[in-house]
Amino acid sequence: MTASPDQIVVRDALKTYGTGAAEVTALAHVDLTVDRGQFVSIIGPSGCGKSTLLRLVAGLETADSGDVTVFGADPDQACAAKMIGFVPQVPALLPWLSVEGNVTLPSKVNRRADALRRTLPGHVHREPADPRALLTKIGLGDSLARLPHQLSGGMQQRVAIARAFAIQADVLLMDEPFSALDEFTREAIQVQLLELWEQMRTTVVFVTHSVSEAVVLSDKVVVMSARPGRIDAVIDIDLPRPRRQGLLESAAVHDYEDLIRGRLQTAWAAGPATR
Ligand SMILES: Nc1ncnc2c1ncn2[C@@H]1O[C@H](COP(=O)(O)OP(=O)(O)O)[C@@H](O)[C@H]1O
Ligand SMILES: [Mg+2]
Repeated sequence: MTASPDQIVVRDALKTYGTGAAEVTALAHVDLTVDRGQFVSIIGPSGCGKSTLLRLVAGLETADSGDVTVFGADPDQACAAKMIGFVPQVPALLPWLSVEGNVTLPSKVNRRADALRRTLPGHVHREPADPRALLTKIGLGDSLARLPHQLSGGMQQRVAIARAFAIQADVLLMDEPFSALDEFTREAIQVQLLELWEQMRTTVVFVTHSVSEAVVLSDKVVVMSARPGRIDAVIDIDLPRPRRQGLLESAAVHDYEDLIRGRLQTAWAAGPATR
């Protein structure tokens, strides 16, 4: 087994759902390595297994065969020790708690998980981040006392992101967190996520449908295709950081976008005609 204390490793993962004629191979022969501190995006058509891959890493599902380790630990152990933070598509905030309360709560209730994660060699301890500083950084400094229902969808998702960073997990898994937002909100929140990540350098695995989002955010883009869900290409995004507006409009960014679009189209064309 290839367990590394400084990497997330998925090796030859197979995951099927259902049986007989209804059987779906959600993932076949999937290999993925994410180094500590990297920002990695996963992109591919609907149904290609992106969420399944994320759930395997999160310890929410188990592979039928193959290995998954999160900084050397089993995913369910890493999950119990709160080494993993999850940001879903729809932010699940507690409606009766203020913005600040939502971000503060998880680090208060994690004492047992804290004790457990200190025993895992792959965990790197970092002091809890200051919720106010995080919320200010992500543009919500003047909304600390507001309740979730008083916020727009984009603001709610910002709270969920600040909350995920606050617990100082070893990895944040984000499953299309911006897909429900309009384009302008999405671009603004991408920049804020970038600024936060550049400061915190938490390992992130980020699922997206958007080619430009993947390029702008990532060190590495993983291109998947469907039936069976598999990885077709892994593209290193060799652009300097911090990634500011001027860079984001540069020819180099467009070249990466074209490269990834080409890979997605090839994968699409090569797939079975059953789609
Ligand atoms: N709980 C489940 N039961 C049965 N089939 C599932 C389940 N979850 C996902 N699938 C199937 O597995 C495949 C991959 O799904 P998913 O990982 O959600 O893809 P993506 O996130 O890329 O859209 C799809 O064909 C989907 O229908
Ligand atoms: Mg999905």
